[in-house]
Amino acid sequence: MKIEFAEYAVPKGGVVVAGVMDDKVLTPGAAELDRRTGGAVARALKSARFQGRNGDRLDLVSPGDGGYDRIVLVGLGKGKDRDALKMQDLGGGLVAHLNAGGVARATVLADPMPDSALQTAPAVARLGYGARLRAYRFDKYRTKEKEEQKPSLAELTIAVAGAKAAEDAFRLLDRVADGVAFTRDLVSEPANVIYPETLADAARTLTELGVEVEVLGVHDMQRLGMGALLGVGQGSAREPRLVVMQWRGAANRADAPLAFVGKGVTFDTGGISIKPAAGMEEMKWDMGGAGTVIGLMKALAGRKAKINVVGLAGLVENMPSGTAQRPGDVVKSMSGQTIEVINTDAEGRLVLADALWYCQDRFKPKFMVDLATLTGAIVIALGHENAGLFANSDELAERIAASGRATGERCWRLPLSEAYDKALASEIADMKNVGDRAGGSITAAQFLQRFVNDVPWAHIDIAGMAWTKKDSPTVPKGATAFGVQLLNHLVQEYYEGK
Ligand code: BES
Ligand code: MN
Ligand code: ZN
Repeated sequence: MKIEFAEYAVPKGGVVVAGVMDDKVLTPGAAELDRRTGGAVARALKSARFQGRNGDRLDLVSPGDGGYDRIVLVGLGKGKDRDALKMQDLGGGLVAHLNAGGVARATVLADPMPDSALQTAPAVARLGYGARLRAYRFDKYRTKEKEEQKPSLAELTIAVAGAKAAEDAFRLLDRVADGVAFTRDLVSEPANVIYPETLADAARTLTELGVEVEVLGVHDMQRLGMGALLGVGQGSAREPRLVVMQWRGAANRADAPLAFVGKGVTFDTGGISIKPAAGMEEMKWDMGGAGTVIGLMKALAGRKAKINVVGLAGLVENMPSGTAQRPGDVVKSMSGQTIEVINTDAEGRLVLADALWYCQDRFKPKFMVDLATLTGAIVIALGHENAGLFANSDELAERIAASGRATGERCWRLPLSEAYDKALASEIADMKNVGDRAGGSITAAQFLQRFVNDVPWAHIDIAGMAWTKKDSPTVPKGATAFGVQLLNHLVQEYYEGK
C-alpha cells in the first residue's frame, strides 16, 4: 500500500475520509462534503448512532449528489484524546475499514485540529504510520488467493495543509515501520526456512544500512567457552550462531554502547524434555526476541540514530536427537559458572546466559536489555496485555515502562530477590536451569541475572506478546514485533544525543 501526502484540497469524487469530533461537530472537511452532497452528511449523522467518539465510523455509500463513491466519517473524540497513539490507531483502524469495504484508493482530509494534544504535522504523520503498520501482511506462501480475497487498498492519500512538514515527520516513523515489518517477516517465517544460519544471513543484510555485522560460528563459541548456548544446539542438524550487530551513530564512535540481546530459538521442541504435540507449531516464533533485536537495529540504522548500539542474537534450534543434551547434563558457561540442565525445555535462559555474559565482557555497555519468549508462566501471570519486566536498575525499569506506555507496547514489572534465587540451587553444579513451578518467570529472570555481572540490566519476557491471534488497530494477527517501537522510543527519548 502506498501512503502519500498532498496539499489540502477536498476531492471532487472518489472515496473521501473526513473527521467528526465528539458531539457530532463536523471538521471543515466534513462540513464541505456536507455542502457538496446537499446535506447528506448531516442527514446521515442524524439517522445513525455515530457520535464522533474515538473509533466511531460511518460510511455513506454513493450519497445522492456530489459524485462521491463513498464518504467515510471517522470519530475524532475530544481534543485531549487526540494523542500520538490515538492517531496511530485511527490510521490503522481506517486501513482495516477501507479494506473491508473493498476500497482501492482513498483521500483522508486531515483538517488542522487546534484543540488536539498534537500539532498537525506530527498528528498526521502518526496517522500515516498507523496505517502502514496495519497494512502489513505476510502472504508470500499464499499462491491461490483470488483478487477479491486480497486487501483492496492500494493507495492512501493524506490531504493536509503543509504536506511537506507532515511528510518529513512521517519519514522517520516510516524507518521505524521498516524495522517492525522486518521483525514481523522474520518471526512469521516457518522454522524450515528460518534457522540459525538463515536468520544470521537476514541480519547480515543490515550492512546495507551501515550496521557492522559479525556472525560467530560453533568454533568461535567453543573457543569462548559458551557451553550453555552450545549445549542447547547440539541436538540439531542446524548449527548455532551468535550474531553481533553494531550501529555507531554517536559523534564519538568509542562511546560505550547501549546493548540489546535477543533469544533466538528458531524452533523449540523442548528437546529431550519434549513438548506436547498440540500447539508445538507455535514454537517457530521462539526466536521473537532475536527478531525484535534485529528489527530494532534496522529501525535505528534506518533513521540514523545518533547513538552507539549493539544488538546480539543468540541463535539455536532446540531438537531431540541422539546428540541432544540430556536432563541431568552439566554444562559450563562462558562466565565459568556450571549449570545442571534439569529440563532441556528451559533452553532460552541457557542461550541468554552466554550471550549476556559475552555482551558485558566485550562491550562494557551502558546497559543491557534482553528480550525473550522465555516462559509460559508469564502468559499465565500477565496474559497478552503486558510483557513481564525485570530489572536490577529502577531507573532503567521506569524508562522501559514509560516507553511501553508511550508506544502501546506495555510492560509490567515483577520482583527479583535473593529468596527467589535460592530456587536455583543444585546438588551437583553452581545452579540448575529451573526452579519449581512457583514463580516460574521470576526464577527464570533470577537465572539470567547470574550472568549480567552488575551491569544495569533489564529482561523483558515477551512470551505472551510476540504473537497475536487477534487483530488490533496497528497490529494485524500474527507476529507483532513487540519491542521494536518500545525500545526505539527508549533509545530516542532517554539516551540519544544526551
Ligand atoms: N519457549 C518457551 C516459552 C514459551 C511458552 C514461549 C509459550 C511462548 C509461548 C520456553 O523455552 C519454555 O519452554 N519454557 C518452559 C520453562 C519450564 C521448562 C521451566 C515453560 O514455560 O514451560
Ligand atoms: Mn523451551
Ligand atoms: Zn523456548
